[in-house]
Amino acid sequence: MEHLTFLELAKLLISFAICAPSGHNSQPWNFQITENQIIITPDFGKRLEVVDGSNRELFISLGCALQNLQTAAAHYGYKSDYVYKDGKIVVTINQQDTCNNDTLFNAIKQRHTHRGEFTGAKIPDDLLQSFETEENANVLVVNTASPEANIITKKITEGNNIQMNDTAFKRELIDWMRFNKKHIKETNNGLCYNVLGFPATPKPIGKKMIGMFLTPKAQNKTDMGVNNSASHFAVFSVKENTEENWIALGKTLEAFLLRITAEKLAYNFSNQPCEIPSLNISLKEELKMEYYPAVIIRIGYGAEPKHFAPRQEVF
Ligand SMILES: Cc1cc2nc3c(=O)[nH]c(=O)nc-3n(C[C@H](O)[C@H](O)[C@H](O)COP(=O)(O)O)c2cc1C
Repeated sequence: MEHLTFLELAKLLISFAICAPSGHNSQPWNFQITENQIIITPDFGKRLEVVDGSNRELFISLGCALQNLQTAAAHYGYKSDYVYKDGKIVVTINQQDTCNNDTLFNAIKQRHTHRGEFTGAKIPDDLLQSFETEENANVLVVNTASPEANIITKKITEGNNIQMNDTAFKRELIDWMRFNKKHIKETNNGLCYNVLGFPATPKPIGKKMIGMFLTPKAQNKTDMGVNNSASHFAVFSVKENTEENWIALGKTLEAFLLRITAEKLAYNFSNQPCEIPSLNISLKEELKMEYYPAVIIRIGYGAEPKHFAPRQEVF
């Protein structure tokens, strides 16, 4: 990689950063390149005002992009450090002697959020134990047959009952849906019909149809199938709700998802009861967690998707 200018290297690293997951596939990031730094800033124009009023998921998404960027830097033989200052994630990149992190690096472009039910197969204990590292100290992993999982599924149901009766929540969700190829091409972001497994429709028809599906009953029925077919839940938490901690959590989350991908496991995000303040507190208390739950995922085994979520080019 010595033949690359810093600008070329930075663009290469950013092409991996943007493969990160983000709430509603909003891709709420901007990138600037300086002499030896890459600066990631939030794009508040993409914030999810209703579902993510505190910007927590926005900063978690930035942390996911940062993790990809640093994983790619290490792969190409660069050491990277970051600081979060004045609302900017400043990543300094320096040459080093060794290249590493191939397992995670190779998973960056394969990783995707699994849509639909899992196979029901259980992840072997020894494989799960290999996820119990210092970096994952704030991740609680529980078997879907455990009493803790009952608490989690109850909170997901309560969250669905609140969110699927909230007109503003549904309006925001529908605004981020993309209903046909032309619609996807216009934005290259959002939740796309083909990724979600819906047929293509003209925009007004799609909006009307999806509106009819967004009910507590329909969502809870879908979630029951997905919850029961998953092997485990993983609950990611933060000690304090600060932007720094959300970014760090995003890094932990993305590294976890890349490991999941490398191990040929599947994952998806549950609808997030953590987004509702009262449920966030009761989930923490009932699960006897030390920290605040921020993101819940399900893990297990599942089929590969036919379509990947699109990404916007940033340069
Ligand atoms: C912080 C965060 C929260 C998310 N919350 C949800 C969610 O509640 N429900 C869901 O289905 N997907 C959720 N997602 C997954 C995104 O929709 C997904 O990452 C995005 O559509 C891009 O798709 P990909 O992960 O397959 O690349 C979340 C992702 C992040 C990073």
